[in-house]
Amino acid sequence: MKKILLLAVSALMSVFCVAQTKNVTKQKALVLYYSQTGTTKAVADEIRKRTGADIQSIDLDKPYDGDFQATIARCQEEKSKGVLPTLKPFAVAVKNYDVIYLGYPIWFGTYAPPIEALLKKESFEGKTLVHFCTFGSGGLEESVKALKSSLPKAKVNSGYGVRTARKNAIPVEVDRFLKENGFVAGKVDALPDYSAQKPVTEAEKTIFNTACGDYQFPLGTPVTVGKRTTKNSTDYKYTVQSRGMDGKESTSTILVTVPNGGKAEFTRVIR
Ligand SMILES: Cc1cc2nc3c(=O)[nH]c(=O)nc-3n(C[C@H](O)[C@H](O)[C@H](O)COP(=O)(O)O)c2cc1C
Repeated sequence: MKKILLLAVSALMSVFCVAQTKNVTKQKALVLYYSQTGTTKAVADEIRKRTGADIQSIDLDKPYDGDFQATIARCQEEKSKGVLPTLKPFAVAVKNYDVIYLGYPIWFGTYAPPIEALLKKESFEGKTLVHFCTFGSGGLEESVKALKSSLPKAKVNSGYGVRTARKNAIPVEVDRFLKENGFVAGKVDALPDYSAQKPVTEAEKTIFNTACGDYQFPLGTPVTVGKRTTKNSTDYKYTVQSRGMDGKESTSTILVTVPNGGKAEFTRVIR
C-alpha cells in the first residue's frame, strides 16, 4: 500500500514538474543583455542555447572604452552631469515577449548604466524578469533590490550571478539555475542547507585564504563558517569582518567552493 502511495505521489510530482516547465516554455522568451568584455555575453549565450529563447544585445551609440579606469572616469563624468549612455535600437520589440532574461555586469555595486538607460526606455509591466549578472566579487542581491524598486509592475524572479574569474563554471551553473526554477525541463539534486555558523578553524582559514587570497581588493577576516557537502564539492559560507575606506566595521558573507579533488574557489560575496 505504502509503495503504491509513493508511486502515485512521484507520478503526480513528475506531471507537476513537466506542466510547470511547459507553462514557462510556452511563453515567448528573450535574452536581453549588456556586456562590455564578454562575460555576461557568455552567460546570455548559454541561456539562449538551453532555452531556445531569442537573443538581443544592448549596444550603445558610444560604447564604453574596454579600459577599466577609462570606463570608471566616463561613468563618473556621466553621473556628475546626470546623463546615461544612449542605446542603439533593438532588432526585436521587447513588448512581444512574456519572459525576459535580463543580463548585465555589476558596476559600482549594481547593474551597469546601460541597464539604467534600458529601464527608462522600455516598459516591463506584467513581464516575468529573470535576471543574471556577472561581477568581480558580487552584487546579485543589491542589483535585484534595485531592479525590483525600479520595476514595481514586473515579476522579478530569482537570479543567477557568477564571478568573471569563474567563467568555466557557467555551463553547469546555468543548467542548474534553469532546471531548479522550471525554465527548462529536467531535474537536479536539491542542494543541502549550510550547517550552523561556528568559529573558523585554522584549516578553514587556510581554505578561505586559498580561495580569496589573490582577489585584487582585501575581503576581510573570516570569523565564523557553515558548511555543506554536495555530490561534487564541499561549500563554505563564511561570515567575514572588514573595515571600509570610511573606517567603519562591516560584516559580509563570502561563499567558497572546493570542487572534489580541486582548488578552493571564491564564489561570491553577499553584502
Ligand atoms: C566601471 C566598472 C565598475 C565595476 N564595479 C564592480 C563592482 O562594484 N563590483 C564587482 O564585483 N565588480 C565590478 N566590476 C567588474 C565587472 O562586474 C565584471 O568584470 C563583469 O563580469 C564584466 O562583465 P562583462 O564582461 O560582461 O562586461 C566593475 C567593472 C567596471 C568596468
